[in-house]
Amino acid sequence: MKVVAAEGSDAMVEDREFKAGQRATWALGDYHEFARHSLWQFGQELVEACGIGPGQRVLDVAAGTGNVAIRAAQKGAEVVASDLTPENFEAGRREAAKHGVRLEWVEADAEALPFADGEFDVVTSAFGAVFAPDQQVVADELVRVCRPGGTIGLTVPTPPARKAARARMLADVVPSMFGGASPLRWGDEEHVAGLFGDRVESLRMCRRRSELGAFADEADLRDFLKGHHPVAVALYRDLGDDPELAAALDDAFLRLIDLWYARGDEGAGAFAQEAVIIVARKRAATAPASRRAPSR
Ligand SMILES: C[S@@+](CC[C@H](N)C(=O)[O-])C[C@H]1O[C@@H](n2cnc3c(N)ncnc32)[C@H](O)[C@@H]1O
Repeated sequence: MKVVAAEGSDAMVEDREFKAGQRATWALGDYHEFARHSLWQFGQELVEACGIGPGQRVLDVAAGTGNVAIRAAQKGAEVVASDLTPENFEAGRREAAKHGVRLEWVEADAEALPFADGEFDVVTSAFGAVFAPDQQVVADELVRVCRPGGTIGLTVPTPPARKAARARMLADVVPSMFGGASPLRWGDEEHVAGLFGDRVESLRMCRRRSELGAFADEADLRDFLKGHHPVAVALYRDLGDDPELAAALDDAFLRLIDLWYARGDEGAGAFAQEAVIIVARKRAATAPASRRAPSR
């Protein structure tokens, strides 16, 4: 069980500073534009996989601009969209308004959700909660706020299956950017089963693929990421004005694109992204004490 850092302790201050840095990063660029052209379709997939429908109370954790939350609301659910980075909520509100739905937007850290035990029928997070550094605390929080018998649904970014061996190094590189274990570990069934423990009565994981918007080629996709993806924008910004470093990063991005994306079905500029979808059903009975959420 996680030992919760004492208020004002070095660990607590470090955690606050780390999260402030993460928030500042995710507010860079234009996340909504990136999401609309890349992983937007996965929001719909997760809503379908969780069987979200009218009258359910749904929490979307690390919701970004609402790719899951808005789709859940369109199904008639009552939705709370929460995220560490409220700077992106305005774009989410505009997108929700376009689709004629209203949601509640709440600033929240996935490791300390400001919601009561069992408040939600369904708890989702697409490419979001997996970025929080302490994976056990996140799993504990997702289970805690879900009602007994409710559903927890996640999507996990993953390199294409056939590039897995070459892409393994990503699992080592990625954690240094997100401060904890690699987010890619959420794609491993044994690991996820260990995080949820016997508090869930079923766990299903499957791989899905979604085509990106049209790009001319790898360089065109790289330039799109460079201009919009918050983490890419932060990386280029941190290089300052050094043209040699910028050229080296341009090159590294091309290699990363080759590792990370599958080729799409329609020509040279067609790319696809893969993701693992997790659906877990929380046990209806009371959880054993050894796996309860940490007290705060
Ligand atoms: C790749 S985006 C995914 C957003 C959205 N779910 C989607 O699918 O488009 C990652 C999101 O995770 C959020 N995030 C990162 N760390 C977080 C944390 N510890 N708690 C809550 N949100 C976090 C970021 O602010 C960002 O909005």
